[in-house]
Amino acid sequence: MPKENQSNPSSSLPSRVWRSIFRGPIFPRDDRDRKKIVFDTLVLHFRPIRVREDTIRYSHTWGLGGSSFILFLILVSTGVLLMFVYQPSPDGAYESVVSLEHDVFFGKLIRNMHHWSANFLIAFLILHLLRVYFTGGYHAPRQFNWVIGLLLLGCVLLSNFTGYLLPWDQLSYWATTIVTGMIGYVPVVGGWLQGVIRGGESISGKTLVIFYAAHTTVIPVLIIVLAAFHFWRVRKARGVVVPRLADDPEPRSESGPAQKPNYVLTLPNLILREFSVALALIAFVMVVALIFNAGLGEPANPGMSPNPAKAPWYFVGFQELLLHFDPLFAVLVIPLLAAIGLVSIPYFDYDRDTSGIFMMSHEGRRLGAMAAVVAVVATVAWVIADEFVIDLAAWMPPVIANGLVPAVVLFGVLAGFYRWAKKRGGSSNNEAIQTLFILLAMGFAVLTVVGVWFRGEGMALVWPWNF
Ligand code: HEM
Repeated sequence: MPKENQSNPSSSLPSRVWRSIFRGPIFPRDDRDRKKIVFDTLVLHFRPIRVREDTIRYSHTWGLGGSSFILFLILVSTGVLLMFVYQPSPDGAYESVVSLEHDVFFGKLIRNMHHWSANFLIAFLILHLLRVYFTGGYHAPRQFNWVIGLLLLGCVLLSNFTGYLLPWDQLSYWATTIVTGMIGYVPVVGGWLQGVIRGGESISGKTLVIFYAAHTTVIPVLIIVLAAFHFWRVRKARGVVVPRLADDPEPRSESGPAQKPNYVLTLPNLILREFSVALALIAFVMVVALIFNAGLGEPANPGMSPNPAKAPWYFVGFQELLLHFDPLFAVLVIPLLAAIGLVSIPYFDYDRDTSGIFMMSHEGRRLGAMAAVVAVVATVAWVIADEFVIDLAAWMPPVIANGLVPAVVLFGVLAGFYRWAKKRGGSSNNEAIQTLFILLAMGFAVLTVVGVWFRGEGMALVWPWNF
């Protein structure tokens, strides 16, 4: 009778590989034990030996950070394959993409996978950011990791944006023209910065080379370095934030946790979960890539702009701001304040450490829901009023009509909401700040939806089915 973990040479290869993954390697006993030790030691160089059982529940993190990393790996592997065919020049770029799709074995699938993983990565990162925010994952000792995360998000956005130009079709050419055009509105240095990014006055072969180098080398290297730093900080913080209820004692309080935490071995408990999520995600990306094509329009024509000419979806919110605010506010003041606000989140003056508590408290969830509804109604009302009713620019200079006045109204609403949240419900500083975060995030989400689905020719408001 063979011992349970002795390998059976007559079993089929898939079943031996399966066993090697889930039970141990496919080597004879002595050798196998040695290989298993090597494999386990390798894994445990990167991961702690034990993890808290309550943090590995899938619904605690939704595996969003790990999934983002898997998407990044798919991007790198498909990107390297694309580099064998792609030509970064205005004469060759579009043709090389067409040839990749038609003449190269699996070329279309690889391109589609690259395209969809890039878009999913942005969506997953936004969800990861929201998960971290709503479980208080930015409190000490994780403050700085929040900032590293934001840098990673910035790099991923840049990576998507620089990749967008590479097919050199009408959409990519004009979307890049619009976004780099926005930079030109920045006072004093805007024109110079725009010239540096474009490599000249307009989008040309030089821009393509700059974007190609940034997209294939500079940004991926930055992401790898920052991601390594990010993972190391998670490890230094002894893993992810620990889930708890609103009235549980604070993580570092004198009273300590009510019960001794339960630890389990990382291998196999966490690694198996991560492996399953990775497999499911790769399968999902492949299925989407098989069904939906990345799309390729007409070749770029610098002489004819499509109408409407829109930025990529993750920048459409800013393009929408440009329709309502003076450019100085839309491309500088508001994004700068938003960036400063996001970076400062861990460093605000909070009443207590709410790490691990979903949306802080019952009151936090109630105020949050209210803020979300107010944001949707107010943003839609404002977009419609600005399009059809209000025309302050006829009465005063545009920078006041479309800059100062709406900015004062916006900050007035935020300040009013903050005071109301604190006074009325007697809510804590934490809950009031979270309410503002939801108000702003929801408002920006509505602007993005309006920009993507409700703007037609000449960027006029239209119903999506008339688009
Ligand atoms: C390429 C981008 C990113 C990758 C690959 C990544 C990956 C991860 C992973 C694997 C974790 C462990 C827990 C989990 O899976 O959720 C984590 C935790 C964390 N991430 Fe990210 N992340 C990225 C971007 C971000 C962004 C945009 C933010 C927010 C601004 C952020 C903030 C954090 C923080 C503060 C933690 C610790 C939170 C906790 O302990 O619960 N990360 N990240």
